[in-house]
Amino acid sequence: MVKICCIGAGYVGGPTMAVMALKCPEIEVAVVDISEPRINAWNSDKLPIYEPGLEDVVKQCRGKNLFFSTDVEKHVFESDIVFVSVNTPTKTQGLGAGKAADLTYWESAARMIADVSKSSKIVVEKSTVPVRTAEAIEKILTHNSKGIDFQILSNPEFLAEGTAIKDLYNPDRVLIGGRDNAAGQKAIEALRDVYAHWVPVERIICTNLWSAELSKLAANAFLAQRISSVNAMSALCEATGADVTQVAHAVGTDTRIGPKFLNASVGFGGSCFQKDILNLIYICECNGLPDAANYWKQVIKVNDYQKIRFANRVVSSMFNTVSGKKIAILGFAFKKDTGDTRETPAIDVCNRLVADKAKLSIYDPQVVEEQIKRDLSMARFDWDHPVPLQQFKAEGISEQVSVVSDAYEATKDAHGLCVLTEWDEFKSLDYKTIFDSMQKPAFVFDGRNVIDAVKLREIGFIVYSIGKPLDSWLKDMPSVA
Ligand code: NAI
Repeated sequence: MVKICCIGAGYVGGPTMAVMALKCPEIEVAVVDISEPRINAWNSDKLPIYEPGLEDVVKQCRGKNLFFSTDVEKHVFESDIVFVSVNTPTKTQGLGAGKAADLTYWESAARMIADVSKSSKIVVEKSTVPVRTAEAIEKILTHNSKGIDFQILSNPEFLAEGTAIKDLYNPDRVLIGGRDNAAGQKAIEALRDVYAHWVPVERIICTNLWSAELSKLAANAFLAQRISSVNAMSALCEATGADVTQVAHAVGTDTRIGPKFLNASVGFGGSCFQKDILNLIYICECNGLPDAANYWKQVIKVNDYQKIRFANRVVSSMFNTVSGKKIAILGFAFKKDTGDTRETPAIDVCNRLVADKAKLSIYDPQVVEEQIKRDLSMARFDWDHPVPLQQFKAEGISEQVSVVSDAYEATKDAHGLCVLTEWDEFKSLDYKTIFDSMQKPAFVFDGRNVIDAVKLREIGFIVYSIGKPLDSWLKDMPSVA
């Protein structure tokens, strides 16, 4: 029986391995992690991450051919294929701080694999890593190998949170990079055989190691660039009376461009886009390509501009002050159908409003109070480190921020409400009841274009929808980013 072990039971390791176990019943899959609470949660009825369809997959395989364990060394020792899916955050200190990937977790996993292995193994990079990381990993493994053969493959993951199970069942492609020699090709074949259980072979792309590593960074940079492009356009739409949805539709019907990923919003978030672009920028700079680096920097700058622009719009619309005013925040996760808040635009928007002395009442269907308060007190770039290593802002935020359990409580007596995540339930709220319970004039700032602005204006709200023609009230109060 082939045995697979995955180091890192996170948003990628957990769902990816659960689907692999489901589709390959004759393979034993162990997902291991140093975090005991995380593994305990994977073994309980309340999984550590929220992802539609995940619970069902886990329940079908757990205890049969899918196991979650903290006994990292035992499972690595027993495996033929070891996936490494640990976190690779942005470095916060030292050389490359704020840009380069921090490979501490990856390196310690590689050293441990070398230490405990007594048989040949295929080691698979699942984490997103800088191009040529495999070379460094190879060196660590071979210099500590005691004669054991390790083959390194790059197999970056393209799943999107919120649709992870659907993406894993039916991926656009699976990418496998390996060494261009007989042993490397044999390792590629072994991994291709695993995926071929459920992925059509023509969708399994095999490349050299460096192309696979760089393709993942490139794919995320292209995706984020589309969002920043449409967001930059949204600012111009507001200034000119054009409607960003109409513009995006007209642009997206060109088959060379395509319609997906053209929704204007308050900004992109998630653990990957910013981190991977920063990483790409750093690699460009290290390779003496400052112009290429500056091009990608602009994608992040526009994203920051969009978040600040949104928060400024809130303040300027409400007579240039939100001091002491209650503002409801609907949605905190970086997108719908996930509880993940890493790099969510809500953090920057909320911090900006808190700095202007607003009182925030926050509701998100999947994010708990502890997480929201932690996010709002954390220094930038620190979200992906283990909790004990995170540095918190000294001043408390508790008096200005409350977290509540439904949208009606959040909006009661509020001066304004901001939609920051596109949760479906925000489309069907009883906005008449909400309007009646709010201070007047009552403002809605829709950062995701999910609410029916026409209906809300009829009720009496002053509405701001990102990239849409402005209410006359808002025209008189321009926001400057
Ligand atoms: P995560 O933070 O949810 O999970 C990583 C896990 O690795 C943590 O539970 C941590 O305790 C564990 N870990 C760290 N060092 C360890 C060690 N030495 N031994 C055992 N366990 C260890 O991270 P996530 O989101 O799953 O991301 C993992 C990688 O996949 C990152 O490189 C990320 O860029 C990439 N990725 C993430 C996607 C996402 O949507 N979250 C999508 C595609 C790629």
